[in-house]
Amino acid sequence: MSEIVYLNGDFIPEEQALVSVEDRGMLFADGVYEVARAYGGRFFLLDQHLERMQESARLVRLPLPSAAELRAAMQGVLQRNRMADASVYLSVTRGHAGPRSHVLPTEAHPTVFAAARPTPVPDPRSIQEGAAAISVPDRRWHMCHVKSIGLLLNTLAKQAAVEAGAQEALFVRDGVLTEGSATNAFVVLNGQIWTHPSGPHILSGITRDVLIEICQRDGIPLRQEGVLLSQLYAAQEVFVSGTNTEVLPIVRVDGRTIGEGRPGAVARRLLDALHRYVATSIQ
Ligand SMILES: Cc1ncc(COP(=O)(O)O)c(C=O)c1O
Repeated sequence: MSEIVYLNGDFIPEEQALVSVEDRGMLFADGVYEVARAYGGRFFLLDQHLERMQESARLVRLPLPSAAELRAAMQGVLQRNRMADASVYLSVTRGHAGPRSHVLPTEAHPTVFAAARPTPVPDPRSIQEGAAAISVPDRRWHMCHVKSIGLLLNTLAKQAAVEAGAQEALFVRDGVLTEGSATNAFVVLNGQIWTHPSGPHILSGITRDVLIEICQRDGIPLRQEGVLLSQLYAAQEVFVSGTNTEVLPIVRVDGRTIGEGRPGAVARRLLDALHRYVATSIQ
């Protein structure tokens, strides 16, 4: 049976979901997206994802359909595909606006697409033994807080990581670690957790927000400050976070061993705390 997706008001088989070649998403990567996670048939922090999409859209002057429509699209693809654990993708582009023009159309005809996909299963070895990462220069724009569908530099960074036998690429801007290609990054230095401050140089993750909240609640020292790549190499622990990734310990960066070369106590504690947080908040 083919997968049911949502496109512009309809729930239809994926192969029937067609978009114009003149869609501004295709021509200009003119759109924003979200990925939210469902556990046991219930969404985790869907409101926060929809609020972030609203903020992304505001920053690029993209009129969005109502939050109710977006929510119904995401819930609909989950239910119609009878999925309990899923990663649900939602994108809104500025749609088809006639012949290609840089000027924004005066009338909004957004293209709204949602699909539920099985949550990517993390490699159990990466969680038990830790993953490898490489650093890459962060040549992205200065609006990384917009969850834009324009992800070319993120995909090239991830590809470079995979070709180097690593799982994630860590962006470095002016010597400072910003975030991963699809994750936020955390570094444990002298018993304190450091993570890049929110702002235009990172996508402020929903998972990152939860981890910060857990640290505040549990009295775990955390600073929202940048870390130099040289400091990262000497860190006790490095880990990354994301909706699909949850918390992933990084034990090698650019071929150098981090800490003791195995997942550290802070990453393990935060992964457990995140799982408990999910369990209580989806009830
Ligand atoms: C560049 C980037 N940073 C951070 C994240 C993590 O965000 P979240 O925790 O909301 O999934 C993502 C997720 O896709 C991302 O693409």
